[in-house]
Amino acid sequence: MRRNVTIIGQSPLITQLKQLALQVAETDIPVLIIGETGSGKEVLARFIHAHSKRADKSFIPVNCGAIPSGILESELFGHEKGAFTGAVQSRKGYFESADRGTIFLDEIGEMPLETQVKFLRVIETGEFQRVGSSEMIYSDARIIAATNKNMYQAVAEKNFREDLFYRLRSVELQIPPLRERGRDILMLTENFVHESERKHSIVFEGFSPEATEILMRYPWPGNVRELKNLIESLLVLEKGNYITPEILEKHLVQRNRYKSLVHDPSKSEKHEMHVIYSNILQLRQEVSEIRQMLQHLLHTRSQPPLLLPEAAELSYSRREPVEPEQFGSVHEKESAVMHTLDDVEKKTISEAIESCQGNKRKAARLLGITERTLYRKIKAYGL
Ligand SMILES: Nc1ncnc2c1ncn2[C@@H]1O[C@H](COP(=O)(O)OP(=O)(O)OP(=O)(O)O)[C@@H](O)[C@H]1O
Ligand SMILES: [Mg+2]
Repeated sequence: MRRNVTIIGQSPLITQLKQLALQVAETDIPVLIIGETGSGKEVLARFIHAHSKRADKSFIPVNCGAIPSGILESELFGHEKGAFTGAVQSRKGYFESADRGTIFLDEIGEMPLETQVKFLRVIETGEFQRVGSSEMIYSDARIIAATNKNMYQAVAEKNFREDLFYRLRSVELQIPPLRERGRDILMLTENFVHESERKHSIVFEGFSPEATEILMRYPWPGNVRELKNLIESLLVLEKGNYITPEILEKHLVQRNRYKSLVHDPSKSEKHEMHVIYSNILQLRQEVSEIRQMLQHLLHTRSQPPLLLPEAAELSYSRREPVEPEQFGSVHEKESAVMHTLDDVEKKTISEAIESCQGNKRKAARLLGITERTLYRKIKAYGL
């Protein structure tokens, strides 16, 4: 029997998302759902399951972030009696229980690396072993994973396996935050009002136009869950009375999130991006200056340049200071005499000035930096 799972909303983003979900529901491809907290990731996973040929089999949600890492593996794959202290009986894991159904792995970014290795094999072959057993078990569970984390960052920081990430996101579904869904906010509000009226036997008198305006403008950091909870507490605590902006604001303030109305998070994000970009640009400029200096240095020496500028950069990024005279041997000998990057720069600058008989303009040109930068560096190094 199909469970009636509906995703309320008619905004373009949600309509498109529902269409995509219906398309993938017909297949067995793993799906990765990405969305902010409370945006409806589990609702979407249930929607896919309910519209698949697996609808009459189990849908098993597992919150990878809520289960302690030592236990997660035996929860997912099961265990044999005596596999570890406390394993008094053998037990089926979620993958076995979800056979021919769907397993929903929430907060997938929290899965420990050891478990990820086993999980990758399940995705690829459907096979796994219970903890403490050597017998291979096969499960035909459709995998839907979800996260509100930046998975690219988790992969870059080596907290999540890259191969698993790419395998998981065969299909990636992005749930838009509630603040981007326009009038869906009102549609959801109406739905939650009906739910609360039924649940608490209340007749609700409605929102004033100004209060409705606030509902539309509020940034909803907790998304649909926040809206649902707000409506329920509004109806219950205000006993179904007409909601004016003052009453609504009072409740939003009580929820301690109203400040987001005044403080536009997108603005501070933009400022942060601006700072990051300027820092990257500055860094790039400095790297290019250093590269030019090294090239000059290698050029003025008669030896063939064994350490290419790229390699030099690499060794600096590993924080290994390099002695200019030793460039060739640094490549081969770990134990070369080393100086700091500043020393190299200082030496290069003074050599350039010397070779130009003190003419700063010529020296700057030779170093590939501006005269102003050269003066700044002369001052900084006390040359
Ligand atoms: N489009 C929707 N239509 C109806 N109800 C929704 C919708 N989206 C979310 N909800 C409701 O909002 C609540 C939060 O949804 P859900 O648990 O799916 O969010 P989530 O993204 O998984 O949250 P979390 O990040 O906390 O795990 C649930 O009560 C769910 O029923
Ligand atoms: Mg969830």
